[in-house]
Parts: sequence; C-alpha cells; structure tokens
Amino acid sequence: MLVLGIETSCDETAVAVVRDGVEVLSNVITSMSSRYAELAGVIPEDAARNQLACMMPVLGAAMTSAGVQPSDLDVIAITRGPGLLGSLLVGTATARQLSVAWNVPLVGIHHTLGHLSSVWPDAQVPPQFPSLTLSVSGGHSDLWLRESHLKGKLIGRTRDDAVGEAFDKGASLLGLPYPGGPAIAKAAEKGDPFRYAFPAPLKDDDTLDFSFSGLKTALRYLLRDLNIQTVTQEQLPDIAASYQHALCAHLVDRVNRVLNAHPVTKEVHLVGGVSASLYLRALLQKSLAENHPGVIVRWPAQFPYCTDNAVMIASAAYFLLQERPEALVQPFATDAMASLHDVFSAV
Ligand code: KG4
Ligand code: ZN
Repeated sequence: MLVLGIETSCDETAVAVVRDGVEVLSNVITSMSSRYAELAGVIPEDAARNQLACMMPVLGAAMTSAGVQPSDLDVIAITRGPGLLGSLLVGTATARQLSVAWNVPLVGIHHTLGHLSSVWPDAQVPPQFPSLTLSVSGGHSDLWLRESHLKGKLIGRTRDDAVGEAFDKGASLLGLPYPGGPAIAKAAEKGDPFRYAFPAPLKDDDTLDFSFSGLKTALRYLLRDLNIQTVTQEQLPDIAASYQHALCAHLVDRVNRVLNAHPVTKEVHLVGGVSASLYLRALLQKSLAENHPGVIVRWPAQFPYCTDNAVMIASAAYFLLQERPEALVQPFATDAMASLHDVFSAV
C-alpha cells in the first residue's frame, strides 16, 4: 500500500511517501523554526501563510523524489489534529482537494497516533506488542500501553508542563536559545550530571503521572542560591547536565514503574521531539538493561522521525487501515483540539 502522508500541525510543511507503513520512499519537510526561535514562539497566522506558499513545492518534491505518480497512490493520509487550526486547515484542505482531483481515498490521522507509529518506518526488526510508548515533546509527556496499533490506553500523563517545555524554560533560565533540549544537551556535554541534586517529582505518590514544573522551579532556586545573575561558562556544564539528568531520570523512573506493574510488556518505545535526546536514550537503555533485562527499547530510526514529520502520518494510516479498513470511507473533521481519547476511537 503506497501512502502519501501530509503533516502541517505546527509550523512545518511535511510530505512523505511511504510503502506499507515501513519503507520510506521520500520525506520532504520545510519549517520556519529558526525564524520562530528568534521570536521565541510561533506566530500561528504567519505559519499558516507560509505553509500555504510551501505546500505545493514540498508536495512536488516528495512525489518526484519518491518517483511516483498520483495514479500510483493508494491512500492520502493527513493530520486531522490536534494543532494550530490555520496550519491544520492548509494541510487538510490540500489533502481533500488532492483526493478529489486524483481520485485517491483520504484518511484523517490523529497527530499522536502518528508519533506512536514513528518507530516502525525503517526499523531493522519489526516492533512488537504489547508495548509501552513514552511520547515526549514540547506539548506532551504521555505513557501509552498498547496491545496493537489501535488497542491500548493512556496510563500516564503530565500534570503540568511537558518535558520539552521544561527543557525550553530551563534553557531560557540558563540564557540558552530555543529549542532548549538540544541547547541544554550541548551545554551539558562536559558537565557532571550529579553535581547538583534535584528533587524526584511525585516520588511518594503511587502514580504513573509526571510533573515537571517543580524541577523548573528547583533550577530557578538553584541559580538564586548560588547567587548567579548570569551563568558563566565555568558553571554552565554542571548545571545543565544536572538539570538534564533530573528531567530524564523522572521519565525513566515512570517507565520502570509501568514495567513493574505490567511485566508482559515486550518493548519500550521512545517517541516525540525529546526522543532525540542521546542522554535520555542512554539512561533509558541502561536502566532497562539493569531492571528489566529482555525488554527491547527503541526510538525512531532517524532523527527527523522524532520531531513532527509526515512519514509517521503515512505509517500510522497504513497500520490504521490494516486494523480498521472501514476508516478509509469515514469522513473526518479538522480538529485543532482533537483529544487524546480520540486516538483510538475515531479516525
Ligand atoms: O515533537 P516536537 O518537535 O514538537 C512538539 O512539541 O510537538 O518537540 C519539540 C521539543 C522541544 O521542546 C525541544 O526542546 C525538544 O523537543 N527536543 C529535545 C531535543 N531535541 C528536541 N529535548 C531534549 N534533547 C534533544 N536533543
Ligand atoms: Zn508532535
């Protein structure tokens, strides 16, 4: 099944062609992130106008680089939400028109289902269920337990900030640029992750939820107690490394809690923008090897599949249609607020 995936939920315009959910024929993406990094935030109206201008060139590049014609496509898959409404509308309006013009059926995909599918493309060995997915980005920190692509539940989520947000806000306190995750990782390279102790959030609470706002506050207090107005180059590595460790250790702690309660879990999948963190990958791998040997840990095969992309949308559509073929003829709404509960129930 040849699927054209389109994703425009935030500031990116992404189009990909993927065969059978795993074989990536093309993956083209353009984003305004460097412009919004300077402005310290996305301007929704501006993002949508740019996506309108980028959509046809990106689509053309994806089709050409895959070497396919519209008549070769079996399905067009489009992110139906959640996201910025103007941006989503550029994608869904384009996809609806292409579907009619090319006579190719259309399926709407929940953005989160895309992230949950992102470890399948280019995987050397096919992932297996039951699996636990830790989905971490600037917008969410969620734990999903699944028995199949469409059967599963959300068993943990953040009670306040998402972990990516904690990286971004922490970076800003340290005088580092946006996005904070890569900036903190770079600053932490030669630092000691155990130099400064941070609290373990909700430690005595019998919960699978996360809480990151306290860690951000602890960083603020650390800077205050050290009497630091502006962090110097000598101080930065240890502070950045300790903060990065605290955020990642909290994520890893919850994964261990889930595996203790659900020992039949075969694999742990790390997805979303924060899954690009090499420190998090290494910490998770080490902890699972010690505490849950035999459980396979994996993350997206390529860095561009961690952040928002169209490959994961095309892949999700393939697996959705394997389990629920009727999804192909069901109409869908473009929904900026599409809830997490819709991930498996609606298409
Ligand atoms: O999934 P994503 O591209 O966008 C959404 O938020 O949906 O995730 C962006 C987040 C940002 O908060 C950024 O700081 C974080 O992912 N991030 C990282 C790394 N690369 C990106 N966090 C930690 N380490 C990284 N290497
Ligand atoms: Zn995302």
